[in-house]
Amino acid sequence: MAFASTRELCLAARADGYAVPAVNIVDGLSIASAVKAADSVGSPIILQTSVKTVQYFGAAVLASAAQAAADAASVPVALHLDHCPQRAVITEAIAHGWSSVLFDASDRDFDTAVAETAEVVAEAHAAGVDVESEIENIVGVEDGVGSDDPNVHFYADEELVRVASETGTDLIAPALGTAHGLYTASPVLLVDRVARLVALTDIPVVLHGGTGLSAEEFQAFIDAGVSKINISTAVKLAYMHASRDHLAEAERSGKWEPVKLFDQIGAAVEQAVLQHIELFGSARRVAVTA
Ligand code: 13P
Repeated sequence: MAFASTRELCLAARADGYAVPAVNIVDGLSIASAVKAADSVGSPIILQTSVKTVQYFGAAVLASAAQAAADAASVPVALHLDHCPQRAVITEAIAHGWSSVLFDASDRDFDTAVAETAEVVAEAHAAGVDVESEIENIVGVEDGVGSDDPNVHFYADEELVRVASETGTDLIAPALGTAHGLYTASPVLLVDRVARLVALTDIPVVLHGGTGLSAEEFQAFIDAGVSKINISTAVKLAYMHASRDHLAEAERSGKWEPVKLFDQIGAAVEQAVLQHIELFGSARRVAVTA
């Protein structure tokens, strides 16, 4: 089926008190495995591509792999471009049928960020594509994009919502105390901020930096109204650890079979995605494939 609208998946999740897993995929294998996991338990899923992944494979290859996986599934699948400060890559994703793009303007000054977000929204909406907007820095570097500077510049909640409304933003990515990558110290989570934003606007609120949060922390964010949760590092670790384990065993046994390697990686990615689907309460929301 055609890609789902990221915004519509999130609005449905918010209305029913769960969050849609937004999983960063890195190739055709992780695309197929993530969609298989979602399809096996009746969960909607958002596949996310970093700018680096788009540049590595090319937008056409990724879009067709995601489309093939979506066609084989009975659950809604959206394709989303994660943190993208580069307007040319946004244009490319729009041209290749992505459901949504995250225009990351957190490296711009306020006026430039607002003006460019409005331009991106106009360009994306003309093609039926949703826009997630980020004007505050979410700590941590994700596939080469972002910053490790812990000094986030927060805008007032009302200001953030005003900018989102005035620019026509479809999803807001505020700083919520989480960080991309593995936590080296316990984060100070801004769950109350989600509740305040949700009270101010119907625009879905996105939680970045999901890897490493506990079941209780995810639930607190979902209860407060978060409806899209991004998971990247946990999937990458599952992928790489399965590769390492398989190659170590191949070395030991002297049996080198690439398809068996793919099997082991695919199973690990599927397991990691299933785990988060259960944590986010998105299972059994849509019909399961027979
Ligand atoms: P993690 O790498 O912490 O899971 O964060 C993912 C993310 O927010 C992608 O935008």
